[in-house]
Amino acid sequence: MPSRDHYWLPFTPNRSFAKQPQILVRAEGLRYWNEQGDELLDGCSGLFCSVLGHGRPEIGEAMAAQYRQLDFSPPFRFAQPAAFELAADLAQALPGDLDRIFFVNSGSEAVDTALKIALRYHHARGDGERQRFVTRDRGYHGVNFGGVSLSGMANNREFFGPGLPGVLHKRNTLVEANRFTAGEGEHGVELADDLLGFVEAHGAESIAACVVEPIAGSTGILVPPRGYLSRLREICDEHGILLIFDEVITGFGRTGKAFAADTFGVLPDIITVAKALTNGAIPMGAVAVRRGIYETIAKSTPEGGIEFFHGYTYSAHPVACAAGLATLKIFREESTFERAAELAPYFLERVFELEDIPQVVDIRGFGLLAGIDLDPTEVMGERGSKALERLFASGLVIRVTNDTLILAPALVSDREHIDGIVDRLRATLPTL
Ligand SMILES: Cc1ncc(COP(=O)(O)O)c(C=O)c1O
Repeated sequence: MPSRDHYWLPFTPNRSFAKQPQILVRAEGLRYWNEQGDELLDGCSGLFCSVLGHGRPEIGEAMAAQYRQLDFSPPFRFAQPAAFELAADLAQALPGDLDRIFFVNSGSEAVDTALKIALRYHHARGDGERQRFVTRDRGYHGVNFGGVSLSGMANNREFFGPGLPGVLHKRNTLVEANRFTAGEGEHGVELADDLLGFVEAHGAESIAACVVEPIAGSTGILVPPRGYLSRLREICDEHGILLIFDEVITGFGRTGKAFAADTFGVLPDIITVAKALTNGAIPMGAVAVRRGIYETIAKSTPEGGIEFFHGYTYSAHPVACAAGLATLKIFREESTFERAAELAPYFLERVFELEDIPQVVDIRGFGLLAGIDLDPTEVMGERGSKALERLFASGLVIRVTNDTLILAPALVSDREHIDGIVDRLRATLPTL
């Protein structure tokens, strides 16, 4: 066996991992297999990406065909047909006039690109003093410098310098009175007014955009209180602030409709997506922008000039575009989002049954997303890590952040799959 010393794993305690490696060697449908050949249930759609299940042949075949036809073409000043097709399909799926699409390769790149578009837009309007971003405690917006500056997770910012200047963090939306609530909590809408507080303290004319995940995902599924997102929209409208929804997790059916913007009935100015866009088969992300934003930027640029000095070598990579096209086709043909909406009440009902386990101190959920908080021991994250290991040994792969377990089953899951996840949790959590 080749040495395992060289691979530096991301967001992983590498030295502990080396002693007890959790290695997956095969995936199909809703299952993984480890090196020993044991079968494991996938409780998190990979990492919120493989929402149609693993190894969908249609996606692999589309990628192979594209590779044979055109493996790569430069994206600056050239284009290839699949990029136009995918942008058009995405524009069709997105709400309102969010129909100008900029392609990137990950959620982190989508976020940093969205921030740059916001700054470019205000500059184009002659309002270039708007350079601050308002975001939220316990937000996760990827790991590039823009996203890290927005991060509401101290560990993600520590050691990495001052980041973008002037970022302001609102409070998170965890409210004690909403504990063990499935769906939107009734308490806490006033937390949206933190944005108003920043407008008063720093002046609206200094704020470019408010960036939030409609449901904070990676920090534990923090569902917004009822009315919170529409209140943010109102404040942004009153003060000329752009509203950016980071839908890297919530996009593509996770909340029961195409986007959380649809589910919550709030139209943002910019949406970032990644993950499920290609069903996780190949990296890709995108930033969807309201038409007026694109047009304002275009109008401010002299004819023949480049409107936006930004892009990546792999923006709109042909093979990724082919994967995206095949994925969106399946979403349409199989009514994947409707199917997810139908399964969600059963999923939430089963997950909330775990409420009686003494180690469980809160459960939150919406659509096919749930977060389960375990009572922390004296060492923060110890119980969560133990849960991850024991669940893996019991045949379940989920995501853990500190002492919070995150569930995000594939949108094509059936009741039996949900039962398998919940049964393993019921057997394991009381042992922690
Ligand atoms: C809301 C959100 N934004 C951005 C990202 C970063 O995405 P990536 O890991 O593809 O860079 C993530 C990743 O989980 C995310 O959940």
